[in-house]
Amino acid sequence: MSSPNPTTTCLPASGSNVHKVELPENALVLAPTRQLQSLLTIIRDEKTQRGDFVFTSDRIIRLLVEEGLNHLPVVSKKVITPTGKEYEGVAFQGRICGVSIMRAGEAMEAGLRDCCRSVRIGKDEETTQAKLFYAKLPDDISKRFVLLLDPMLATGGSCIKAIEVLLEHGVEEEKILFLNLIASPEGIQKVCTRFPKLRIITAWVDEGLDSNSYIVPGLGDFGDR
Ligand code: URA
Repeated sequence: MSSPNPTTTCLPASGSNVHKVELPENALVLAPTRQLQSLLTIIRDEKTQRGDFVFTSDRIIRLLVEEGLNHLPVVSKKVITPTGKEYEGVAFQGRICGVSIMRAGEAMEAGLRDCCRSVRIGKDEETTQAKLFYAKLPDDISKRFVLLLDPMLATGGSCIKAIEVLLEHGVEEEKILFLNLIASPEGIQKVCTRFPKLRIITAWVDEGLDSNSYIVPGLGDFGDR
């Protein structure tokens, strides 16, 4: 009998104990599948080149957007298929809008644009304050579900500011889904406590923040990568 390949380690397909933090009820973490863990390993690797970083983060963003869409309400819808038979299906109820927090959130737009109309709002990079300027939000944004995008949830400052802007524009808190690649436990707690009706969907929860408010182990500055 041949011996097992010593370079192969079998990880559980999806472990339940990977994220060691207690999460608020309105925070959801994607299942830590082998696929997701391998994609995150690529984007975390300091040796990963820009092209691979963009390609791989797009794949994770797509997983987040698809999961986000699963949380939107549906109504029954009957259609007739080309075989002439009836099919009792469902259709999304309501309209959606993607809002990305600049600069890094812009990188998440491609995955979103495939699924819905999207716009941007931005952080003031000069002051690094969580002061937002924003492109024109759709006039009917208050009637839409909003997928708010920011790849890194660190202190939660810019995310909270962006949510406040959406609320000021009449968006209902329960209609906001915040999609995020990597979150700090601090950021999740802060945002979820402040906005208990909003939902956060993240791909991974990391250990915490360093003294520069970078997520660790994290992946560095997402915008620079
Ligand atoms: N923004 C980033 O790009 N990286 C972090 O670790 C935190 C905020």
